[in-house]
Amino acid sequence: MNILTFDTEEQLNEAGAGVLSGMVQMNPSAILGLATGGTPIGIYEQLVQTYKRGLVSFNKVTTFNLDEYVGITPEHHQSYSYYMRQHLFNQVDINIEQAYVPCGTATDLEEECVRYDRLIENTGQIDIQLLGLGHNGHIGFNEPSHALLSGTHIVELAEATKTANARYFSAEEEVPQKAITMGVGMILKAKNILLVVKGEDKAEIVKRALTGPISTNCPASLLQTHPHLTVLLDRAAGSLL
Ligand code: PGA
Repeated sequence: MNILTFDTEEQLNEAGAGVLSGMVQMNPSAILGLATGGTPIGIYEQLVQTYKRGLVSFNKVTTFNLDEYVGITPEHHQSYSYYMRQHLFNQVDINIEQAYVPCGTATDLEEECVRYDRLIENTGQIDIQLLGLGHNGHIGFNEPSHALLSGTHIVELAEATKTANARYFSAEEEVPQKAITMGVGMILKAKNILLVVKGEDKAEIVKRALTGPISTNCPASLLQTHPHLTVLLDRAAGSLL
């Protein structure tokens, strides 16, 4: 595990974007696993700048997003599909046909899970999976549980997650109850994992995830078993390590 701690958010974002763009510079057909949430926004901004400066092209890249809310359409401004178009896809030369986000409005959600896993498996191993970290230790929407599923599946969102994400909706009741998420098995299959965490409010869970016991009660703790895990932290998030 390689842990890098940065003094400023700007440095952290530059480092994160540097890892992702470096991957694509070395392998223009790289397969990227992408994440949403507040944490990666600055990284995507930097990535767009790198693209605009002519230093990287995404036109051969394939991307797979980790998750999506169930029941809201890709056009809904809080869908993760919308988020990705807003923060990255519409601002770079990516082929949108190769930028996959699970569909949370599929008529058969179980079938959508199978389709998504098959799509990833048929495309190839994800070169690098970007991850944020939930306050409860979730990765993707794999919430703490006595057991975790390996493949893409439907989850009931934890209360802590709905509360954390309520800031994006006009009321907490509007936060979807369910989501579709890549499972931890699929996440751990990536060649490299880039976990990014910011803020003092995540310091405790960073400590638990990276130094505590490996347990499904803290899904991010499973990342300790990955041979190529890089963790980018700001000083506040890393303050208890
Ligand atoms: P955040 O979410 O980046 O909005 O804090 C991270 C997560 O829940 O995985």
